[in-house]
Amino acid sequence: MSLKRLMTIERHIIEQQKEFPAATGEFSALLYDIAFAAKVISRDVRKAGLVDILGYTGSENVQGEQVRKLDEFADEVIFKAMDHTGRLCCMACEEREEIIPIPEDFKCGHYVLLYDPLDGSSNIDANVSIGTIFSIHRKISPGERGTKADCLQPGNKQVAAGYVIYGSSTLLVYTAGRGVHGFTLDPTVGEFLLSHENIQIPPRATIYSVNEGNTNNWEEGMQRYIEYIKTPDKATGRPYSSRYIGSLVADFHRNLLYGGVFLYPADKKSPQGKLRVLYEANPLAFLVEQAGGLASDGRQRILDIQPVDLHQRTPLLIGSREAVKEAEEFLQGKR
Ligand code: AHG
Ligand code: MN
Ligand code: MN
Repeated sequence: MSLKRLMTIERHIIEQQKEFPAATGEFSALLYDIAFAAKVISRDVRKAGLVDILGYTGSENVQGEQVRKLDEFADEVIFKAMDHTGRLCCMACEEREEIIPIPEDFKCGHYVLLYDPLDGSSNIDANVSIGTIFSIHRKISPGERGTKADCLQPGNKQVAAGYVIYGSSTLLVYTAGRGVHGFTLDPTVGEFLLSHENIQIPPRATIYSVNEGNTNNWEEGMQRYIEYIKTPDKATGRPYSSRYIGSLVADFHRNLLYGGVFLYPADKKSPQGKLRVLYEANPLAFLVEQAGGLASDGRQRILDIQPVDLHQRTPLLIGSREAVKEAEEFLQGKR
């Protein structure tokens, strides 16, 4: 076994923190708390099918979507792993309408956690990869308790972001603004060990990921871009291969490693796009930029969007630099 494989996520976070002399350790501990929650979710996802955790709860979430038992379970695990630590001032997540306050009996800290507890819900019962996405901001409001203003910060203010994929293995990928690093859970020792150091996304795409069933609902520039991607051209490596899982984390992660572009544009059905700024677009945009890629809503950088609503949606073009630039040109009518 190489030494690299003995780098636990805890050690990695601590070593990165050494480069910030003012760091208190609160932030490192926070990332470690998230890794702990991920282990608990991973353990139960692996048992899905054996215990009664598949299927729907019978209620709808704030987005009007059917809530699955695992959505609710993952949400609870993250909340309970984080509520008492004294490191967060509040949280917000895709499943709940309002911000999630820290219970009165616990102290508040300097950070805000935004999360999509279970991404790719529609794939759960079919044993397809699913994930968790998280984003961390610094508290900006005065007073001890966190407020909505702490959650409604643009993505360019994130101090860390990442995701966990419950796939063929459980992988945690994070950035704290110093590159993107991936850790695979070794279930035999219960630790995340460094497996993907300093991930860089290839500048050109070889893959495109989009729900092409929506073609007739897209604007014309988007339709032309997908036609362009499919038109053979040796010099630019077209046509790209089509790969679409329907779990954003899994589609994103594959494209991050192989080079690709993921697109969820606005369409007639979802004029603002489908994906959520705070829980999906922002964290992945921070990661992709740290890996050398780009994330755009077609007009502007995702990280520069000033959110005004906790559950705001956005069109999303994300992945390899050259491909995202090209997609923007088509959407803006420049090509
Ligand atoms: P979630 O499961 O958290 O609600 O996320 C849904 C997602 C995302 O993971 C995926 O990329 C997208 O919705 C797929 O949407 P379509 O089914 O419309 O293609
Ligand atoms: Mn999601
Ligand atoms: Mn979700």
